[in-house]
Parts: sequence; C-alpha cells; structure tokens
Amino acid sequence: MVNMKNSTILIMLLICIGTIINAQSLQSPNGKFVMDFHLKHGVPYYNLRYNDETVIEDSKLGLRLFNNTGAIPILSKTNDTQFDLNNGFTKAGEKRDSKNETWQPVLGEKKSYLNHYNELSVTLNQNRTDRNIIIRFRLFNDGLGFRYEFPQQKNLNYFTIREEDSEFDLPADLKAWWIVADYDSQEYPYQTTKISEIPARWDRAFDKHSSQTLIKGAVQSPIMLKREGNKPLYINIAEAAVLNYPASNLEVDPQSFKFKIHLTPDRNGAKGYIQTASVTPWRTIIVSPKAEMVLDSKMLFNLNEPTKYNDTSYIKPTKYMGVWWEMIIGKSQWAYGEPKTNIHIGKTDYSKIVPNGKNAANNKKVKEYIDFASENGFDGLLVEGWNIGWEDWINHSKEFVFDFITPNPDFDIKILNEYAHSKGLKLIMHHETSGSAANYERWIDKAFQLMNKYGYNSVKTGYVGDIIPRSEHHNSQWMIDHYYRIVEKAHEYKIMVNSHESVRPGGESRTYPNWVSAEAARGTEHEAFLGNNPDHQTILPFTRWIGGSMDYTPGIFQTRLDYYFPGDQRFVKTTLAKQLALYVVMYMPVQMAADLPENYKKHMDAFQFIKDVSADWDDTKILSAEPGEYIVTARKTKGKETWFVGGITDENKRNYTVDFSFLDKGRQYEATIYEDGIDADYITNPQSYTIYKKVITNKSKIHFKMAQSGGFAVSIIPLKSG
Ligand code: NOJ
Ligand code: CA
Repeated sequence: MVNMKNSTILIMLLICIGTIINAQSLQSPNGKFVMDFHLKHGVPYYNLRYNDETVIEDSKLGLRLFNNTGAIPILSKTNDTQFDLNNGFTKAGEKRDSKNETWQPVLGEKKSYLNHYNELSVTLNQNRTDRNIIIRFRLFNDGLGFRYEFPQQKNLNYFTIREEDSEFDLPADLKAWWIVADYDSQEYPYQTTKISEIPARWDRAFDKHSSQTLIKGAVQSPIMLKREGNKPLYINIAEAAVLNYPASNLEVDPQSFKFKIHLTPDRNGAKGYIQTASVTPWRTIIVSPKAEMVLDSKMLFNLNEPTKYNDTSYIKPTKYMGVWWEMIIGKSQWAYGEPKTNIHIGKTDYSKIVPNGKNAANNKKVKEYIDFASENGFDGLLVEGWNIGWEDWINHSKEFVFDFITPNPDFDIKILNEYAHSKGLKLIMHHETSGSAANYERWIDKAFQLMNKYGYNSVKTGYVGDIIPRSEHHNSQWMIDHYYRIVEKAHEYKIMVNSHESVRPGGESRTYPNWVSAEAARGTEHEAFLGNNPDHQTILPFTRWIGGSMDYTPGIFQTRLDYYFPGDQRFVKTTLAKQLALYVVMYMPVQMAADLPENYKKHMDAFQFIKDVSADWDDTKILSAEPGEYIVTARKTKGKETWFVGGITDENKRNYTVDFSFLDKGRQYEATIYEDGIDADYITNPQSYTIYKKVITNKSKIHFKMAQSGGFAVSIIPLKSG
C-alpha cells in the first residue's frame, strides 16, 4: 500500500519527469550559460544558469490580450481572459540554429562587433483557440535574449495587447541601480538600493518633469543589478529592437526579487495594436562576473537587424558646439520677443513682436559662435531658438506650435549657413516639437527640404511636454512608430537625427544608423536645474548606454553658475578634469562641447583635449569599472593610431594606475595628461587641473589621483621614431 508520504514523492517525481521531458535546453557557444524552457500545465517558463549557478529562476512567459480583432479596448469587454496567450499551450515544434559572424557598425565603439549565439525557437499551440506563437531564445557568451513571434495564421491576424507578462525572477536580493518608471520621462536621478528596498525609496526618487506619468513602485529598463560578495555577478536587464511596440518598464516584487514587464499603454489602456505576422522586442539579460564585460557587451545591437540602407556615406561622427547652454542656464532665451501669449503660427506678424534682446539666435551672436567653433576644428554648430513660436511653446498643449521653416527676424538662415560653410562648418538644425508629434509629421517634408536647401546635414529633435496626439505617451507604440517615421524620412533626405526626450535606444542604430544619438536620460542640462549626483555618470554607461549612444552634452568648464548670477547656488557637480574624461568614458559619435566660447578661451590648454578627442573608434577597452563608483576606458581612433583614455570617479577620491599594455609593442608614444590639481574639489575648487606630457610605451604605468567627483584624461599620439 502506498502511504501519504510515498504518494507525494511519487507525484513530485512524475512532475519532475514531466518537466524534464518537456524541457528544452540551450547552451551558449562557450558552454557557460544554460537556458531551460518548459511548459508547466500549459504555461511557458524559462530559467537561466551561468557556471551552474541560477541567474534567473523559473520565470513566466506570455501575453494577455484584450481581443482577437485589434479593436480599441473600451469598445470591447475589458475583463475577458479568453484571448490571453499565456496558458493552455502544448509544444508543436522546435528549431535550432546558431550564428558566428562579425559586422561593422557605421559609427561605433569598435571596428567590428561579434555576433555569436546558439538559438532555440519553440512553436507553441494553444489548443482551445488553435493559435500558434513562437518564442525565440538566443544565448550568447554574454547572456540571453528572447522574444515572441506571431506568425500570420487563420485565428491570429489582429489583436490588442493588455500586457506582456515576461518575468525575470532573481534568486536573491541583489543590489540595484535604477530610476523610477514613467511612460513619458527618463530624466531621473539614479538610485542605488537592494531590490527589496525599492518600494521604500521610490517615493523620494523623482523630481517634477514637464511630462510625467509615473508608475508607482516600478522601475525603468535597462536596470543594472549586482550580486555582491566574493563571487560577484553583474546582471543587466533591458530590451532590444523596440519597433512597432511600446517601450517597457519593470514592475518590482520586493519579496521574491522578481521583475515583470509593464508596457507603456496609450490612454485607452492598450499596450500595442498588432497585425500578424509580427514580432515583439527582445528581452535581454546580460550577465558577467566582471562589470567591464557588461559595458563591453554588444548584445542589444546584435539582436537588431542589419541595416537595409544602401547609402550610409552621409552618416559621420560629429563634434559640435551650440548656441544652447546660455539658454539652459537662463542667460539668454529661445523666445524672440513679447508678448509671450497668443502666438498664431502663420498669422502673428513677427515684425510687430517687440524683440526681448535676449534671443541668442541672432546673426551677430551666431557668427561669433561660428568663428570660435570653426577656428577650433568643430564639424557643427547647433542653434536653438532660431525659429518662430518660442514665445508660448510650452505648457499650453498647442498643436500647431512650430512650423520648423520660419526663422526669427534676426536669424538670416541663408547668410549664416553660407558664412558657416565658408569656414568649413555646418549649422545643426533644431526641431523642438513641444511634444506635438502630429504637427511635426505634417511639416516634416517642408522642414527637411529647407534643411537640404541650406545645407544642414543633421537635426536635433525634441519632445518636451505632453504628447499630441493627446492619446499618446512618449514611450507608447504610436510614438515609437513616429520616431522611426522621422528617422526613415530623414534618411530619404540624408539627414542624421539626434533626438531629445525620445524613447531610449535598444541597439536599433544597427538598423537605423542615421539615428546617431539620443538624450533619453538625465543629461548635463539637469545640472542647471536640480543637479546630477557625482555618481550619475558612472551609472549611465551601465544603463542608458547599453542600447546606444547618449547626447550627454558635457564639456562645462565654468561649473559654478554664480559666475553669471551672483548668489546662484547651482553648479555642475564635477571637476573640470572629469568633464574632459567624459568624452572617452561616454560613447558619443555626436559629441558636444557645451560651454560658452568665453569659458573655453580662459582654458585653451584644457580645451585642447576636447579639440583632439575622437568621436568614432576602431577599438575600445574598458580598463576598470564599477557602477556607481568609477569607470576607466581606453579607445583607439577610427582609422588612426591615436588613443584616448578617460577615468572618472563618484563623490569619493580615488587612485588608479593605468597600465598601457594595450599600446603597440616597441612603439613610443607621446601622452598628454590632463588631471585634477592636487587641491581640486568638485565643490570648492573644480577648475584646478594640471597638464603635462610624457613619452610612454606599452610597458608604461601611470598613477592618477582623482579628486572627489574628479577624473583624468589622456591623449596618446605615436612618435614618428617609434
Ligand atoms: C530639452 C532638451 O533636452 C534641451 O537640449 C533643449 O535645449 C530644450 N529641450 C529646448 O528644446
Ligand atoms: Ca531633456
């Protein structure tokens, strides 16, 4: 007779055998990762192990749907579960594949990127509805990517997503670097807590933004995690190839240390209107015992499709200055004049507007900037506030807020472009949409034609404020599609795009290489608002940068703003030397020197580093890094033998010895070293720095002392005799 205990064991055994029979395993090419996929009572699950240790425990997969028609949810029943694609599955097929290739990014951190993975795709059939989905897993030597695919089929043509239920169940209470989740803004200060401490910190983790829809208790993707102790493990959870689908946030379960996808809805609550055949973005988990390897990972780019562009010759690294920082700090203005209300584009007569004398986009000032930028070898000059409409551009939900083609009376678009071109410089166009994407799409052809006519080759776009169409969020499906409509249209006109307040990238620059940069995080401008913490720049490369470059706009030498406005408490929370190091630590193919010419003129010796540093690279070596503490990076210029090294620290002073063994053997180089002065301090003495030259070889080691929130930068040129 079988007693109770034995029967329990028997049942457990049967369940285990059932699970094993059902399980599909996938190994990474180096054998270090194993991913298991299985169905438990018809529900799909995966887990991930690295070196035989669990990184992700059994975690659910699947989606919930509002309907099988693609209708707007309020028109259908909203509590129906019959359409969900998260249960009742049996396995209908399985395919395996692998790839080991290299590809060349148009602009990048290295000459070529390695794409090496093993793949498993499982076809699941939901018997009761006779619908098939595919879950595709790719296991690389640096982690896992997976996505859902919806083949076109009789019973699955259109549907509306209620939520994607992909989970990431961590085995322990890891350390986390995170920002609050929001459908509209990503410009938040980073928090460092345990996963279990996120709810308690959450309410104190944000400031107010012009468009803000917070998700209580949730965090944004990418998130950076660490298992501390003597066997550290670094884990980054993010998403790649976010196309025709909303961007996601992560809900947090602080008891079981689990994250769950939370997609951005439109204001009807729909999280994606899908027509098959279709695929979701990839969910990504980068894992390494070394923080440096996380920064080195190109997984998100590998998970995007190769570009279909025939011509990428117009896509170039760009070093630029801007008629910009003086507006951000309040020294000058975007608006041309008064009154500040009731501007009607196309009707208001700007010759009757009374100039305020503060608009910086005037012929005289722009020419001064052109002179300085061209004398110092820059490629471009951004001019903001050049067009009409800035008097009442914000906070009025104005649909027709700008036309993107009519300059202010004091901005002579023809003469200024000719003047810039005569000096080897291009002006950079600025298209602030004020969130009115609908209006921008109406004007886009005329706007880009104007750019072509006057020889602009790049545009900085912006989405400050709530989105119009008023049903949308910055990260909802319609807006994601909008960003790509603009980028594809820009490609038709051979224009590069650098977007602000747009969705953060997930490696899509592989497919759309003319989307050269984006802000989509808290950039330098916030130093002129409520400030960035001294550890901010040591976290961004582990989070925001995982999927593509950021327009961080560094290079502020006059860090204290009481220089302009006596008594002003605002200041940039770094030393001047750290500002230089950011050009190496932060990958920026579109690289701004953001300060005013008058400030650079006072420190031309330090400015030399910004003039020299490259923006496009053949090689990158992350020498040492720890999120929230420090990063030291070396990069080799594209097509040249010059190297640049940058090191930054958080609010703590830090020593670091650079080992130059990455240089060519037997060759001599001249290194120019820029470092914090002995008495440098980001609060009391940020402009203390020293510069010296030294001949080095691949055997050299140099010891650096970084001040609080300080850093160092080195430019390295091979000596002819070497
Ligand atoms: C916010 C952007 O981040 C900033 O760079 C720009 O100057 C303003 N919007 C105005 O467009
Ligand atoms: Ca911004």
